[in-house]
Order: sequence, then C-alpha cells, then structure tokens
Amino acid sequence: MPASLKLVHSENELEARRWKAVERRDVDSNGEFWTCVKTTGVYCLPSCAARPLRKNVIFADTRRAAEDAGYRPCKRCRPERYVQGGLAERIERIDWERAGAVLNAEGWAPLGRMLNDEECRQLIGSYDEDERYRSTVVMRRHGFGEGEYRYFNETAPRIVAELRARFYEKLAPLANQWAGKLGRETGFPVRHAAYLKHCAKAGQARPTPLILKYGPGDYNRLHQDLYGDEVFPLQIALLLSAPGKDFTGGEFVMTEQTPRRQSRAIVAPLEQGDAIAFAVNERPAEGARGIYRVKMRHGVSEVRTGSRYCLGVIFHDAA
Ligand SMILES: [Fe+2]
Ligand SMILES: [Zn+2]
Repeated sequence: MPASLKLVHSENELEARRWKAVERRDVDSNGEFWTCVKTTGVYCLPSCAARPLRKNVIFADTRRAAEDAGYRPCKRCRPERYVQGGLAERIERIDWERAGAVLNAEGWAPLGRMLNDEECRQLIGSYDEDERYRSTVVMRRHGFGEGEYRYFNETAPRIVAELRARFYEKLAPLANQWAGKLGRETGFPVRHAAYLKHCAKAGQARPTPLILKYGPGDYNRLHQDLYGDEVFPLQIALLLSAPGKDFTGGEFVMTEQTPRRQSRAIVAPLEQGDAIAFAVNERPAEGARGIYRVKMRHGVSEVRTGSRYCLGVIFHDAA
C-alpha cells in the first residue's frame, strides 16, 4: 500500500476514535484534541454537552490550531479555561511575544488560566499552615487597607517556587529592556536563583511570595511592592478564589500615572486560577520627545461578600 494511502487510513481511524470520545462526552479525552464546529465557529472540549453533527465537526490537535483557524471558545464548556499539562508546559504555552507587547503598551497583561481548581484550593488551604510562613501582616495596623497577608518562608509549596522561577525566566528579557530604557546599571540574570543571590548581596534575602486574604469589607490600598532598592520591575498575581461564587466585589485595580496627567484607573478582569503580570513601579513609555516613566500602582477594591484569596509572586526578595 502506498504510504499516502496508509496515512489517510490512520487519520480516519484517529478521527473515528475522537468522534467516539465526543459521543461519550469523554472527560479523559479533554486536552488531547479540540472539537471545532464549522456551523457555529466554536471549538469545544470533547466532554462538552453540546451535540454537534458529525458532518459539521473537524478536530484540532491544539487549542492554538483551533483559534488560528478562527474558532472561538465555546461558552458552555469553556475550553480556554481548561488547564493542561504541568506548570512548565502551561507557562510555555503562553504567547509571550504577545504578552510582552501588551506589557510594553499597557504595563499589564492577562496571562490566562494557570492553576486548576484543586491547585487553587490547596493554596488557599495552605494559608492556615503556620509553619509555612515567615510573617503575617494585618493590613490595618500599617494603614495598608483591611485584610491580612502572609509571606511564605523557604517552605512555600513547590508550586509557588516553581511559578516564581519559571515566570521570572519569561519576564527577565522584558525586564532587561525596561532596565536599559530606565537607566538601571546591572542587568537581570537569566535564572531566578542567580537573581536571588544578587538580591541577597543587596541586603534583600527574605522571600516575598505571599497569600492575601480578604473578607467582607476588606480592601487593599493602591501601592507598590517595593522592599528596598533592588527591584525587579514586573510581578505576577494569581487569583485563587472564584469571583461571583466565593466572593463578590474585590476587583483587582491598577492606576497608571504619566507625567503631567491625572491617574488612569484600570480594572483587570480575573477568574479563578488566572494570572496577571504587571509593572511593580515604573515602566518606560515612548513619546514624541523620547522615553518617559509611567508610574503604576495596584490594589484591590472592597470585597462585599465571601472571601477572596490571591497569590502574589514578587521576584525580588525583601530586606
Ligand atoms: Fe501588591
Ligand atoms: Zn462546548
């Protein structure tokens, strides 16, 4: 049999198997392929409750392939929310070129869903494991707002350390571009471990990853997470609770201040498990007369009901 015929044959077999999985609404096939429905222009998880006709369905091997072909995520099964693979793979799958362009233009960028429900639950659960934290901050005592947060010590859950190291590597090139434009003398090393040594030499050796906990009436005033002169210019926040379900209110808010202008407010929509990258302090912007500094601050609006947990990943350590 000619090779091409054999290929067609095995492709048909693969498609037949995939269609069977769709008919069974097979949860175990989620992530293996994506079902694109030609008539609606929507793509789905194999387990979606929607019932397309076989003749209207084509299969995509990756989410990217489905989206590049012009398909939109299904509103019912939310395939864009499906968390696939290990952390490394998830972070690798982010379109970093696009994220970098958005960060350059806006000072913040949504990174999509990074953590599944179970990982969020576990991190929330770890908030009460006292031995994992080096300090607890009651925000009212410092005038920071209402609510509290806890800084992990060296025994932070593996997932926190891994997020910090892997996100750092992805953000360091952009941080170096910004550093060049803003006149920082030393570059940021490729690896986070090397950067932490640099922080320690500058007298900042205490870990800064933290979990923040807000209850009804709690909020976080606009601020910048600066812990000394050593600053990595970008940071990440991951929402651990489900808006609308676990809590209401509690929007993630940023302000951006350009020279000689009033502040501009930004509300970033986040769902459970979503990550957002944003400028810690200043970002460079290009104007007609060259580069100028845009100052950013972030905070959380008042939580109305329920409880809201958030994981903060700051890349410099604290004094
Ligand atoms: Fe913060
Ligand atoms: Zn669907």
